[in-house]
Amino acid sequence: MQPIELIVNGERLSAAVDPRTTLADFLREAADARSVHLGCEHGVCGACTIVVDGRIARSCIALAVALDGAEIWTLEGLGADPVIAQLRASFHECHGLQCGYCTPGMLVTAREILRRHPAPSEAVVREALAGNICRCTGYAGIVAAVLHAAENLAEGEIPPL
Ligand code: FES
Ligand code: FES
Repeated sequence: MQPIELIVNGERLSAAVDPRTTLADFLREAADARSVHLGCEHGVCGACTIVVDGRIARSCIALAVALDGAEIWTLEGLGADPVIAQLRASFHECHGLQCGYCTPGMLVTAREILRRHPAPSEAVVREALAGNICRCTGYAGIVAAVLHAAENLAEGEIPPL
């Protein structure tokens, strides 16, 4: 076991981990971050997407020991984030989810899209979401929700990268 210390959703978290423990498993078990979903566990589907040191990352293909000292945000810690709040409303309004399994990863990815492109075109949204797989909705509602959120976010509400 190896001692690590991370900041997860604004709180310092110290633990001893098996070097083989993925960041996704660590976050779900040690930080109770159940929004971190596991789909493919190969870095393909995006269900486990989180924020590491200000950039989105796939937690299923990272080892917790490699992230010692990192600052991590999962959807649980982004509840007061204005971009996430708007995205949640837009996903609801535009029918951007059915079972919801992909939704945490979609929201975290969409937040990064809007931070990079505050007024994205549909093509930009579709390309940027290409790494997030949804098994239910067919993507039309998800893309519409991201575009709807961009329209509804007031200037200055999107924090820069
Ligand atoms: S579970 Fe991590 S990318 Fe699919
Ligand atoms: S809403 Fe079911 S996988 Fe996306």
